[in-house]
Amino acid sequence: MFDPLKLIRPHLRDLVPYSSARDDYQGDDGIFLDANENPIGSITDQDWNRYPDPYQRKLKEKISEIKAVGTDQIFLGNGSDEPIDLLFRAFCEPGIDNVIINPPTYGMYKVSADINDVQTIEVLLSEDYELDDAGILDAVNTNTKMVFICSPNNPTGNDLSQDRIDKVIRNFKGIVVIDEAYIDFTNRESYISRLDEFPNLVVLQTFSKAWGLAGLRLGMAFGSAELLKIPNRIKAPYNLSGLTQETVLMALGNSHKKIEMVAQILKDRAELERDLKGLSIIHKVHPSDANFFLVELDKASKVYADLIHKKVIVRDRSKVVLCENALRITVGTREENKKLIDELRKLE
Ligand SMILES: Cc1ncc(COP(=O)(O)O)c(C=O)c1O
Repeated sequence: MFDPLKLIRPHLRDLVPYSSARDDYQGDDGIFLDANENPIGSITDQDWNRYPDPYQRKLKEKISEIKAVGTDQIFLGNGSDEPIDLLFRAFCEPGIDNVIINPPTYGMYKVSADINDVQTIEVLLSEDYELDDAGILDAVNTNTKMVFICSPNNPTGNDLSQDRIDKVIRNFKGIVVIDEAYIDFTNRESYISRLDEFPNLVVLQTFSKAWGLAGLRLGMAFGSAELLKIPNRIKAPYNLSGLTQETVLMALGNSHKKIEMVAQILKDRAELERDLKGLSIIHKVHPSDANFFLVELDKASKVYADLIHKKVIVRDRSKVVLCENALRITVGTREENKKLIDELRKLE
C-alpha cells in the first residue's frame, strides 16, 4: 500500500503548521481584530485590506466541478513552480535523496532539485522523444523519491506513450509527477481521471497556457487527499493572493472563452506547421500536441539572434540534449505567425 507519510522527510512528520484565528472562524461577517490588518480600507479602489482565504475554498469548489475531483484532491499554488518546489521540500532530503527526470524536458524540475540540493538522475528520452520506461525503472535506487514526466513534453511538444507512463506509475514505489501544462492542446484524457487508480500520482496543470492567465500565476496539483495534505501543511499560509483567487473564480464562469481560444490556437497551429514545413531553412518540424513547435534548422543560434534583431523572439534550445540545432516556437496570433514566417523566409 502506497503511504505518502512513509516518503515524507522525517523532520516534517510532526511539523506544527502555521495557524490563524480564521481556522477557528470561517464566516465572512464579524469584527476581525485577529490579523493586524488595516480596518479602514486599502489604497486601491478595491478592498484588499483583508488576508485572502489560505485554503482557497471557493476557487477549489469551482475547480473541483470542472475537473471532477474532490476539493481535497486539489492543491493550488503560485504557478506550477510552487507545487514542484513544495514536493521537493516535502519528500526529498537534501544531499541524500534523488529524483528522475527525462531530458529534454521542462527545466524547472532540475532547477528546483538544484535549489533544494537534491540529485537529479537523467534518463534521456529516445531519439524520437519517447519515454524510456525500462531505463527509468532501472535507474531507481533506494533514495529515489520522485519521477517527473512531462506530457505533452516541453520542449519537444509531443504527448508521451500512456502505456509507458502507466508502467512507470505501476512499478515505481515513490511519487510520479505528470506535468500536464499543455493538456488542453492534446486530445487524450487527463491523468486526473486516474487518481483513484494510482495513489502515488500527482498531476500538475496550470492556468498559464490555455486559460491565458500566465500573469496571475496559478498552478494546480491534483493527487490523493492524503498526499496533498503534506504540501498544504508546509506551504506559506497565504500563498495565493486575493486578486488571483477572485479573478480566476470569475473567469471560470467564462470557460467557453477558453474553449474558443484553444480551438483558434489549434487551427493556427495547423497553419503554422504547414507554413514552417514550406520553408527550406527548416529541416524538420516535430509533431506537436502542445501550443508550440520544436523545429530543426542549420545554425539555430544564428537564426535565433537574427530573429531577435527583427523583434521576433523564439526560444533557442540548441544547447539542450537531443535538441541540437533546434528552436522552440510558440504558436502566436495569425499576424505574429505571418511575421515570423516572413522573417524566416528572408533568412533563406
Ligand atoms: C511543462 C511546463 N510545466 C509548467 C510550466 C510553468 O507553469 P506555471 O506558469 O504554472 O508556473 C511550464 C511553463 O512553460 C511548462 O512548460
